[in-house]
Amino acid sequence: MSVTIKSEHQIELMREAGRLLAITHDELRKAIRPGMSTMDIDRLGDKIIRDFGCIPNFKNYNGYPASICVSVNDEVVHGIPHKKHILQEGDIVSLDAGLIYKGFHSDAARTWAVGEISPQAQRLIDVTRASFFAGIRFAKVGNHLHEISGAIQDYVEAHGYSVVRDLVGHGIGTHLHEDPQIPNFRQKGRGIRLQAGMTLAIEPMVNEGRYDVEWLDDDWTVVTEDGSLSAHYENTILITKEGCEIFTLLPGEKAMDV
Ligand code: MF3
Ligand code: CO
Repeated sequence: MSVTIKSEHQIELMREAGRLLAITHDELRKAIRPGMSTMDIDRLGDKIIRDFGCIPNFKNYNGYPASICVSVNDEVVHGIPHKKHILQEGDIVSLDAGLIYKGFHSDAARTWAVGEISPQAQRLIDVTRASFFAGIRFAKVGNHLHEISGAIQDYVEAHGYSVVRDLVGHGIGTHLHEDPQIPNFRQKGRGIRLQAGMTLAIEPMVNEGRYDVEWLDDDWTVVTEDGSLSAHYENTILITKEGCEIFTLLPGEKAMDV
């Protein structure tokens, strides 16, 4: 599959898919508290998305059994919600969610604190979010894809953390995963030249310790090999002449200036 350029009409639909997903994340943020199960989060997210008249695109994707990926502490991504997995004060929880609105996908991830967390854990969350914004400074027509990748890596490593190598971001549109793959680390070559109308999901996954990860026996949950904490931040964006538009921020939510 090659990289697709979206029409004005398609962009309008993706913008709405993104807006609804941002609201979904915000509702989940407000609901999170110690004592809640990771399954509770999935149930709530699934309901919010369906109440919008949308479809949760992760459900049954390659057999993934839930609508929201819920990954706690050393879980990097694709944690499977479970009613016996109870959030504890001091945990960090990464929520990855996506939906389909009128045939178009959105995809976004956030890491939230459960109750009071350590300053170290908060710093990991903050640096992960900031690394996305450091990356998208290069998201603009005429630049090359790997400029984004390299900027994310540089920002993360300058703060003493590491970027996961085994998972990457991706194009998005009528499919959840479209070309190109978007690594969060420097690659050979410059990558594709960015054009107006490309829609991309940029998603740094950042470990407090080493970048190595492993898969649990459920074949989904990715965890850090060294047991260190991991955070995730993802948005669906549109490449424009001036820079990029972020579809999955809340109305009025400002991009971070890094
Ligand atoms: N947001 C994830 C990604 O970007 C998708 C989750 S995989 C699923 O690849 F199977 F859970 F859907
Ligand atoms: Co994604």
